[in-house]
Amino acid sequence: MRFEDYKPTGRIKNKHMLTLMDYSSEEIFELLHCAVELKRKQYARERHDYLAGKTLAMIFEKSSTRTRISFEQGIRQLGGYPMFLSSRDIQLGRGEPIRDTVRVMERMNIDEIMIRTFKQSDLEELAEYGHIPVINGLTDDFHPCQVLADLLTVYEEFGTFTGKKLVFFGEGFNMANSLMLGCAKVGMDVTICSPAGLGPKQKIVDAARAAALGGAKVVVTDDINEAISGANAVYTDVFFSMGQEKDPAKEAALMPMQVNAEMMAKAAPDAIFLHCLPAHRGEEVTDEVMEGAQSRIFPEAENRLHAQKAVMYMLMKDN
Ligand code: CP
Ligand code: NVA
Repeated sequence: MRFEDYKPTGRIKNKHMLTLMDYSSEEIFELLHCAVELKRKQYARERHDYLAGKTLAMIFEKSSTRTRISFEQGIRQLGGYPMFLSSRDIQLGRGEPIRDTVRVMERMNIDEIMIRTFKQSDLEELAEYGHIPVINGLTDDFHPCQVLADLLTVYEEFGTFTGKKLVFFGEGFNMANSLMLGCAKVGMDVTICSPAGLGPKQKIVDAARAAALGGAKVVVTDDINEAISGANAVYTDVFFSMGQEKDPAKEAALMPMQVNAEMMAKAAPDAIFLHCLPAHRGEEVTDEVMEGAQSRIFPEAENRLHAQKAVMYMLMKDN
């Protein structure tokens, strides 16, 4: 099964978007198809206010530029209303339990919740105690919405996932985990290149391998030359994620994996550069690569909007 041959049904079984672990290849294809169609409609200025009257509550326990703007703009374009809730301002930040917060939200007719937080278990609690669809806007473990946008960007570039390879340079944290799952499930080879001791958890590697579509390869290595060889998409992320302490030893271990012109020259000739952003120029990537001809960082950021409109719509629409 290839994405370009897939016939969408317009339905997914999942009620939440907690992690791509829970999503089948077909469900990811449904979301990507929907994103392509919503993007087309937006460019053609066709009406798509399918979520008129619906409210999306957005809880942020960490900073955000792209996630906040894309969800807020996305729900408006779908005809709904965004409610921005910073944990600095709501009682959650003073220790009110998640399970109480979600049941209050339900009583107030909130239709969907997006949350950016630290622990994956907090999302699971929101999903368990409420009947409202919950979307992961980033945890320490996963960033599924970002990866849907990344996959859309790869598809727009190459017209297929089959036979393509993405390499991620960095720590086995939220981006590596979600990229591994997302790429494997759409049938794209994926290599995670991390320094020894900073690789992804074996449980997630095993899950990605078990769900890989059409023999897609999932490789974890610390060999930079092996990793970059034949890569069509080169991806990296900050050395220190939100909530992590700066650590000189970790920085020294990650520095040889910096994506610079020399690294890009070793990838496939048609390779593109991707980054979830925000980026730290001079650390994980050079300014030259960020601004270079192979960079797709801004179309990728734009695709957050289209991918998340698909997620909001597919989870919130009345089936
Ligand atoms: N990529 C991403 O999630 O960006 P923000 O942290 O700005 O939302
Ligand atoms: N790994 C980064 C991603 C930011 C979008 C972080 O968690 O801070």
